[in-house]
Order: sequence, then structure tokens, then C-alpha cells
Amino acid sequence: MTERTFVIIKPDAVEAGHAGEILARYEGLGLRLEALDLRTITGEFSDLHYAEHLERDFYPALRQFMTSGPMIPMVLTGENAIAQVRALNGATDPTKADAGTIRADFGEGGPRNAVHASDSPESAAAEIALWFPAL
Ligand code: CMP
Repeated sequence: MTERTFVIIKPDAVEAGHAGEILARYEGLGLRLEALDLRTITGEFSDLHYAEHLERDFYPALRQFMTSGPMIPMVLTGENAIAQVRALNGATDPTKADAGTIRADFGEGGPRNAVHASDSPESAAAEIALWFPAL
């Protein structure tokens, strides 16, 4: 099933110079870039993106991190894009991510886990509408 997913190469990975390698890994899955930007977001925009996490104890640190510098949001399209990207990303906590996954290779821990990706077709649609409304 061809589908779209929304992905962010987060500020830690951009700052560390890993954006090109991470993007190459996604393209290596056979996924096609449909939109891409280099963007720095406000706290208010972070609140919209992470609306379901606003009350979590880790959210203030996550918000601080996500507004700390430029990131690369993108839309990728292809066969089973959502599941393919999530498998390649690895577990949310980089210390628990399988070897060879993006988070194991580039994540540091806490909110600094290198990438974000949609977890369902519904969240992909909502995130694409928020970040790339013209699409
Ligand atoms: P992401 O996939 O973008 O979804 C929610 C984000 O919250 C997650 O990646 C991490 O960046 C962050 N996060 C989740 N759990 C924790 C935690 N226990 N401590 C700090 N940050 C977290």
C-alpha cells in the first residue's frame, strides 16, 4: 500500500551534521521525498505538534529541545512508508533502540533521539496538514 508519512530530522541530528546520512537511509528504503524544509519552530508550534504530550512530565524538556535550532521536516511517500520508517528509526529511547537503527546510531537520549515519525495514517495526515498545509 502506497502511503505518506511525516518525518522530522530533529535539531540534535541537524546540529551534529547527520542530516544527509539519515536522509540517505530513508531514500534507501525506496521512499520518495514529496516535501522537505529546514525550519526552526516556536514553542506554540511545538505545542500543536505534540498536543498529546502537553501534560507529560518530559514535555517541558522536549519543547525546549524542539525549539533550540533548525530541524528538517519532510513528507516521504512509498510502500508501507509509516511502518518502514518506524522500523528504521528504532525505539523512541535511543538506549533501547536496536543496533543499526537511526536512533541507536545518532540519538543521544531523553528528547534528543534524532528523528520523529508518524505512528499511524491518522497522525501522518494530521502532521502533514500542520507542517505542510499546501500539500
Ligand atoms: P517522538 O517520536 O518525537 O515523540 C515524542 C517525543 O518525546 C519523543 O520522540 C522524544 O523526543 C520525547 N520523549 C519521549 N519520552 C521521553 C522521556 N521519557 N524523556 C524525555 N523525552 C521523551
